[in-house]
Amino acid sequence: MVDLNTLIVTGGAGFIGSALVRHLIENTDQRVVVLDKLTYAGNLESLAPVLKSARLIFQKGDIADRELVSQLLRTYRPRGVFNLAAESHVDRSIDGPSEFIQTNIVGTFNLLECCLEYWASIGKDERFRFQHISTDEVFGSLGASGAFSEDSRYEPNSPYSASKASSDHLVRAWNHTYSLPVLLTNCSNNYGPYHYPEKLIPLVIRNALAGKPLPVYGDGLQVRDWLYVDDHVRALVRIFEAGVPGDTYNVGGDCERTNIAVVRTICDVLQDLAPRTQPYADLITHVPDRPGHDRRYAINCSKLKTRLGWTQTETFETGIRKTIQWYLANQDWVRAVLENKYDGQRLGGGR
Ligand code: NAD
Ligand code: TYD
Repeated sequence: MVDLNTLIVTGGAGFIGSALVRHLIENTDQRVVVLDKLTYAGNLESLAPVLKSARLIFQKGDIADRELVSQLLRTYRPRGVFNLAAESHVDRSIDGPSEFIQTNIVGTFNLLECCLEYWASIGKDERFRFQHISTDEVFGSLGASGAFSEDSRYEPNSPYSASKASSDHLVRAWNHTYSLPVLLTNCSNNYGPYHYPEKLIPLVIRNALAGKPLPVYGDGLQVRDWLYVDDHVRALVRIFEAGVPGDTYNVGGDCERTNIAVVRTICDVLQDLAPRTQPYADLITHVPDRPGHDRRYAINCSKLKTRLGWTQTETFETGIRKTIQWYLANQDWVRAVLENKYDGQRLGGGR
């Protein structure tokens, strides 16, 4: 039998994983076991607000480690595993895809195998769920109109999205073939506190505050659908509680913005919160485009809204202001997570 009070979160020291863990510890009575390799993107500082909780158990380790994952499952008997461990940065996948294959594909395969074995050992308890957190990037790039739905064709373009697409297929197959109760979620671009400062939004905030150029790839007219990270977390919990095993759910922000509009908005908000004599917008610099850059993503998340009653609480304008306020107040976190890991060089230039 599962322990109804225990969940495992892989990648729980990363951006979205740590938001989920903080939410579970602060707002529920669940015991949360975090499995995280602490790569450059994983930081215990992101769990600082909850690290002292007796309900948080942190295990450093790799999702591809069969012995370790099996032992965690046997020891804690979770009612669910949220898989957020991944290599997540498209630019890094362009420079060096091998870690993406290893963690996103082989790691997910290992988790599925371990979960299947565990699930069989507890009499196929029907309350168990394996929830795999994926991206809208598996669907490829959109033209000027339309949005991805759960039925969109998989057409991944980058090494990152191809590795995530592969993991999605494995998850689906383990449900179809072995009946493992899985849930699959495909989400658009997240933003918010604790976002590693080499991704667009935190990078722009950081560079702006340092008076450095704000790099915009190509013409900056690429479109992303931005979702505030805590809204994503609420969607993940709702899907875990009420989603139909074997189903897939799209999660989006209904907040399409061009990259240049995002950067300009950050400049405007910063100008208001931390005024600068020479406007921040003067730092905007167009740089060579990312190879194979997807032009537009947009998510239709009406299935999640109508069937499970979820909706976003933040607009881009409210969410970006909160995010910038958080970064202004948490420069120590930025310094701590960057230490010796990322020196601000351009990533994703191609090979
Ligand atoms: P992140 O890079 O901030 O965090 C990933 C975490 O996984 C880190 O803590 C890292 O240490 C850990 N990790 C990496 N390899 C591991 C391994 N082999 N074993 C154990 N832990 C490992 O990523 P994120 O932005 O929080 O994304 C989390 C998940 O959500 C990913 O699967 C990503 O594909 C997906 N996603 C992200 C976004 C987004 O906008 N950030 C959007 C949609 C989906
Ligand atoms: P990113 O945060 O890397 O997410 P993703 O590539 O997964 O969508 O980038 C968001 C968008 O911002 C993407 O279109 C690439 C662009 N971008 C820039 O224009 N400049 C930058 O310095 C970075 C990191 C990204």
